[in-house]
Amino acid sequence: MEETRVLLRNKDVANMVDVAVSMEHGGYVGLRNALLMDGAQVIETLRDSGLRGRGGAGFPTWMKIKFAYDAGGTSKVVVCNADEGEPGTSKDRILLSTDPHSIFEGMAIVGKAIGAGRGFIYLRAEYSYLFPILENALDSARKSGILGKNILGSDFSFDIEMRSGAGAYVCGEETALFESIEGKRGEPRTRPPYPGTYGLFGLPTVLNNVETLANIGPIFANGVDWFRSIGSENSPGTKLFTVTGNVHRRGVFEFPMGTNLKDIIYEVCGGIAGGKELLAVQTGGASGAIIRPSQIDIPLDIDHVASSGGRLGCGTIFVIDDSNCVLDIVKNTLEFFTNESCGKCIPCREGGVQLLKLIKKISEGRGSVIDIDTMMDLSNTMRETALCGLGHSTPVPVLTSIANFRDSYDRHLDKDPCSKCSPERGLK
Ligand code: NAI
Repeated sequence: MEETRVLLRNKDVANMVDVAVSMEHGGYVGLRNALLMDGAQVIETLRDSGLRGRGGAGFPTWMKIKFAYDAGGTSKVVVCNADEGEPGTSKDRILLSTDPHSIFEGMAIVGKAIGAGRGFIYLRAEYSYLFPILENALDSARKSGILGKNILGSDFSFDIEMRSGAGAYVCGEETALFESIEGKRGEPRTRPPYPGTYGLFGLPTVLNNVETLANIGPIFANGVDWFRSIGSENSPGTKLFTVTGNVHRRGVFEFPMGTNLKDIIYEVCGGIAGGKELLAVQTGGASGAIIRPSQIDIPLDIDHVASSGGRLGCGTIFVIDDSNCVLDIVKNTLEFFTNESCGKCIPCREGGVQLLKLIKKISEGRGSVIDIDTMMDLSNTMRETALCGLGHSTPVPVLTSIANFRDSYDRHLDKDPCSKCSPERGLK
């Protein structure tokens, strides 16, 4: 199965940090076209393209830009969320390292739409080796008049600054990210107000994921019809999928939205490694849904996955073979989320810890049906009352695994400890 490389089109080109090399390969054509438009036309183009956020939530990109466009004031900001913290995910790292100018281009186009003069890239601490590489790429763009005053000879001025995270997963949440850039403890704010009206430094802000931004230049270079010809009706374009776990071939692959999950696992990734059988797939990263082999024959687009009880999220696919136990996978994700909870809201701080205690109790053969019911109650409370996406996501693997693998939970009740529930972290 051939990849459709739109975002990864320059993956194998050397020295894409150099703006001249980027331009030889089509870089900044979209920005030149956008500079001929006014803000409203840029937003209309994005609306017509149907582009939706690639960080996980799938929110219409044009709408976020329109919120900031409509907000009063002359000082506005664009932020690139490069705090790629979802376990097992590395799609943004590939884009940042192989085509940084495509991200700057997307940010400049958003800046043009809302009349922002400043942009920030918030890079996760674990990607610190990319910091100087991105600084070099920014310098290269400034020297060519693509960033800074009157970019490409227009009356629009825009520049980008780098900021580094410090290793907290929660800082990928947009408002915690703002707090972190502002030099405060990275904890989420209550929304509303949403960033479009009150974001970084209290200014109207558009924040997008790296992959979302990298889609914007190609839309303005090639047109809305071209973009809509790829992917599905409600989720046009391609998607980067990070496939990890027990498959023969792991990696980041680019396919049209709507590509079949089963085909990705078996045709692209060569199926299950080591002669084992497929036990489960978790779509959307650690905060994603855990589904059975009988549920993997589905098109991967935002709405379709959601309507079948799953989650496309940022496109991460964990493939889990039958030498593992589903409860062990849930336990690992809960260990991660309890470690990463910032502790600001009680549902997330306490709920995660209680869920972890209960899954350990069940996997060690000491649980009862009441414990499973309590896990469901707690999970639903967290989904409804937690302050941010972290607390809303923690229960997703719990609820989906109980719904799809109830037989596995039942097998653990009042029994000896499960031999597959490893005390060690990670896939076997
Ligand atoms: P969300 O659905 O709350 O918001 C999505 C975006 O739409 C935000 O920018 C928000 O400001 C905007 N928005 C939503 N409702 C709005 C309204 N009424 N008015 C104005 N703007 C509005 O989702 P959130 O919390 O931003 O992201 C959660 C997702 O992030 C999860 O689905 C998860 O898959 C993903 N995620 C991704 C990670 C990664 O490394 N890529 C890490 C962790 C989570």
